[in-house]
Amino acid sequence: MVEIVIKGYENGPYEISVNGEVLYHLCRCGYSQNKPYCDGSHRKMGFQAKAFELKVNK
Ligand code: FES
Repeated sequence: MVEIVIKGYENGPYEISVNGEVLYHLCRCGYSQNKPYCDGSHRKMGFQAKAFELKVNK
């Protein structure tokens, strides 16, 4: 069984975890200079988005 969790942080990136291990923080604001990864630019750009969590078990 593999558990994949995709979290969207409030006003921040996507976090991708597999079986409890955080693998990536991916940009969802569009301002990162290191796409597809978050580089923290969302903070200074004032990005706003709601938090969510999606779990998939395969
Ligand atoms: S979400 Fe962090 S730089 Fe885009």
